[in-house]
Amino acid sequence: MSPQVLPVHSNSRMTDPKRNAPIGLFDSGVGGLSIYKHLAQQLPAERYVYYADTLHVPYGNRDSSDIEALTLNAVTWLYEQGCKLIIIACNSASAHALDTARRYYPQLPIVGLVPALKPAVLASQSGHVVVLATKATLNGMLLNKVINDVAVPSHTTVIKYFDPMLVPWVEAGMPENSETAQRLREQVRIFADNHVDYLVLGCTHYPFFKAFLQIEIEKQQLAMQIVDSGHAVATRVQSLLIESDLLAETNTYSNNQPLTFFASKYDEFLTELVQQLLGAERQVHYLR
Ligand code: DGL
Repeated sequence: MSPQVLPVHSNSRMTDPKRNAPIGLFDSGVGGLSIYKHLAQQLPAERYVYYADTLHVPYGNRDSSDIEALTLNAVTWLYEQGCKLIIIACNSASAHALDTARRYYPQLPIVGLVPALKPAVLASQSGHVVVLATKATLNGMLLNKVINDVAVPSHTTVIKYFDPMLVPWVEAGMPENSETAQRLREQVRIFADNHVDYLVLGCTHYPFFKAFLQIEIEKQQLAMQIVDSGHAVATRVQSLLIESDLLAETNTYSNNQPLTFFASKYDEFLTELVQQLLGAERQVHYLR
């Protein structure tokens, strides 16, 4: 019998451990899961490690140096898990720590978030848009740069709206009979009275109540569009992975579990909340 010639796979992609490394996601709490949902849809072959700093949530009322230190801590933890790319899936953390994180890890692709104000300004017919975000994001450099570079030249009025109860409301599973829900219902009417036609969800927790807002907008027959950054971030991550030759080839996770969720503080309701937000069961691992 003549010897069989086996094909030689010169393609190093199959064995490159970096490609098969996970993508890291970080948020103060569960908000970054709204970004994960877009990623899972656009990049289903990837594996994800999620770090929720539930010990320190919310970040939005903290001062800049505090947010910077907590974010650096989270990014370092994800880096130590061997992540090939990290997403700071938190507008507040990005506003105060994105530059520092990139300075500490210059070789690591780090993607940050900024509220989707630019597309809202470009699409607005009324010239009035509102950004819903935390105090830290509204005061941060990233958003104010977009205001100065895009909104000011086009004479668009940007209303900054902050309600300190919104993040805790999402973390509590968004009960619709709460005062926060009622305030939101009234607030969309106030925005409309101020000629707002675009509403920007500038915190990664907020897309989880997008459907709630949309129902309210329809009920009140208001002409208002809602935008967030989820899709754009996933597209940015995809092109960065392609550019750096780091796209996973095929599913790199086993047991159909693309996401491993870690939280910095035990919470008996967290597993249920993650399931509510993702529509799928995920095990929560606690770091303390
Ligand atoms: N998801 C975070 C953000 O996008 C929440 C902020 C907070 O913890 O206050 O800003």
